[in-house]
Amino acid sequence: MNDKLLEEIDWRLRVFDSLSFPTLILKPDKVILTANQVFLEKFGVELEKIAGKKCHEVFYGTLSCPNKVCPFPKVLAEKSGTSVMRRHTTRTGKRLYEDRVFSPILDEKGQVAYIMESVRDVTRQKNLELALKETEAFLEKVILGSPIAIVAADRYGHILLMNPSAEELFGYANAFAVRQITADQIYPPGVASSIMRQLKDGKGKLRSLKTTIINAQSEAIPVELTASIIYEDNEEVATVGIYTDLREKLAVENKLKETRAQLAQSEKMASLGQLAAGVAHEINNPLTGILFYATLKLETMTAEDPERSDVEAVIEDVKRCKEIVQNLLAYSRQSSPMKDIIHINAIVNQSLSLIRDPKMFRNVRIERQFSDEMMLVHVDKNQISQVIINLVMNAISAMDGTGVLTLHTYRDKEAGKAYLEVIDTGCGIAPENLTKIFDPFYTTKAPGEGTGLGLSTAYGLVKENKGNISVKQTSGEGTTFLLEFELYHASNGSEE
Ligand SMILES: Nc1ncnc2c1ncn2[C@@H]1O[C@H](COP(=O)(O)OP(=O)(O)OP(=O)(O)O)[C@@H](O)[C@H]1O
Ligand SMILES: [Mg+2]
Repeated sequence: MNDKLLEEIDWRLRVFDSLSFPTLILKPDKVILTANQVFLEKFGVELEKIAGKKCHEVFYGTLSCPNKVCPFPKVLAEKSGTSVMRRHTTRTGKRLYEDRVFSPILDEKGQVAYIMESVRDVTRQKNLELALKETEAFLEKVILGSPIAIVAADRYGHILLMNPSAEELFGYANAFAVRQITADQIYPPGVASSIMRQLKDGKGKLRSLKTTIINAQSEAIPVELTASIIYEDNEEVATVGIYTDLREKLAVENKLKETRAQLAQSEKMASLGQLAAGVAHEINNPLTGILFYATLKLETMTAEDPERSDVEAVIEDVKRCKEIVQNLLAYSRQSSPMKDIIHINAIVNQSLSLIRDPKMFRNVRIERQFSDEMMLVHVDKNQISQVIINLVMNAISAMDGTGVLTLHTYRDKEAGKAYLEVIDTGCGIAPENLTKIFDPFYTTKAPGEGTGLGLSTAYGLVKENKGNISVKQTSGEGTTFLLEFELYHASNGSEE
């Protein structure tokens, strides 16, 4: 061998030895010809012990190959390289993943003379891949199982994902239906683009926004939205939104507001009631005195006395004052009710017959919409009559004597309530006055036409009878006052 040839062999062997992957050279019959240094070190074997052996004897210590698929026939037939992934467990129990690359080495006739097999340890990559898959599967479970509604859309607004909670909130039955919609369709007009603007202004984050969504049934639902833009390599790829349904929260808040308002109203009425009771008491005695002396004076006067009409005017006005005092006492619950068990329709009929001046009704059509269900209530019928009369008189003056007055009774058995609505086609009550109408002396009538005690008296009497009075609705078309009383049952008859 000449020097040149020796040199050639030397560097070729060095190249082989310096390959960074453990590598074998095999004959087509799988017999090992040689191995590089890295192979010997990595597998802890000596060349003499493995040369001449078949590869499976070295790798698996078996006489025949345990692998179902051997890449040798493929490499021999196609004369091109291939690779297979092998998983095996070391003697210490460590699981390894190897990517084995088989490359043919051809002879001068183009036939496969040898096969080079290099073993690449891809355990780390494989483990990372598995961990990633696991994390992905876990995240998917978290998103799908979350009670919070999550929606993701691509940068063009196409919905990519709606978890089951979101499908429920938005009312879409399945993923197919979801894929047909865009972000524009789940908000009122203009809201989707405004959210996008806010997201961009907030550097891709929107912490909390109270807004409205439109569900598949076209219903508007109040929600709280938290959203963010998802970037990949600084490029916007999707947006994700988390929605909290606010309906229940708002309903509770409204109920609370209503209860607070009711409480404030009843506190106001209670203190006004005390004041009214005090005033009524104080005034009643001097009034009795004035009436007594004025009547005495009148008796001593002749029919022609020029001052007689003055004294008569005094007596008339004092009587009016006493009536006011009487009403004030009713409002402040100073009189005790005499309760009967009576059908609510009967009280309405009695009240209407008690209105003394039929002229008032001349241009008013009265409609009785009475439910014929059993609606017994346990109340002082005279007091409730007075309430109904006050409401009817107010309705007639609101209609200026012309219109339709409807008296509608009905019950709600489950709630245990009987109801009477007094409905007029009158002028209505301005919203800013609604909180004042039950106050004593609040009136919009001209001086001398009304004292402003009708509704406050009614309020006091209704409360006295464990009922409720309210304005159910009012507008330029008319007003509905609602009276509620507990339905009487033999079983709760002894409630007092
Ligand atoms: N049905 C109604 N439609 C429109 N406004 C009403 C109605 N009922 C009451 N009001 C308003 O409420 C005010 C207070 O009523 P309330 O019955 O307490 O006193 P009044 O009718 O003015 O006087 P009084 O009843 O003492 O003769 C009325 O002046 C009126 O402005
Ligand atoms: Mg009145």
